[in-house]
Amino acid sequence: MSHRRVAILISGGGSNMVSLVDSMTRDHPARPCLVLSNDAQAGGLAKARDRGIETAVVDHRPFKGDRAAFEAELLKPLEAAQPDIVCLAGFMRVLTGDFVSRFQGRMLNIHPSLLPKYKGLHTHARAIEAGDAEHGCTVHEVTAALDDGPILGQARVTIAPEDTPDSLAAKVLLYEHQLYPSVLRRYVEGNRSVLMLP
Ligand code: GAR
Repeated sequence: MSHRRVAILISGGGSNMVSLVDSMTRDHPARPCLVLSNDAQAGGLAKARDRGIETAVVDHRPFKGDRAAFEAELLKPLEAAQPDIVCLAGFMRVLTGDFVSRFQGRMLNIHPSLLPKYKGLHTHARAIEAGDAEHGCTVHEVTAALDDGPILGQARVTIAPEDTPDSLAAKVLLYEHQLYPSVLRRYVEGNRSVLMLP
């Protein structure tokens, strides 16, 4: 059986991308086919290259907010890589419904909150400000609505009284690195049931 092809979109350090890539070995039914960034400075690009993975960059800035034009360029390397599945891993651009619909049912995202709580940005600070006892991360299928779509997995962490947004982000990120590879593997194998960690 040939491997399913996974493209990963990043904007930053790419630690989730690394955890996904490093999981796709041995008997895993998928392999990475492309790491694509909207920022040439994204630290994750070098990590992908070090792992022998093809990379591409489409800078969003020259498009000055013309999302359709940016996405038309983004599609070129993405379609050339012929992915079966697209993983958003810290990709910080909002995608249009047109773009998302091309990958409907085969695009995943990781978000640093227990969705449906705290869609959007500054999730850790918002959870602390709200006085929440727990926080976490979610992997979900991407639909046209931001940070929406069927939930495939969640990991919970307890918020300690001394937590700051940074300390909480670091705790959640460790769980992201467990959750995303686990959900991806199940997804490739056709398992859409919700995975709860720990
Ligand atoms: C992760 O915490 C991810 O959940 C978050 O950005 C970080 C990327 O870190 N994503 C979002 O906020 C998406 N809206 P990484 O580049 O080290 O994987």
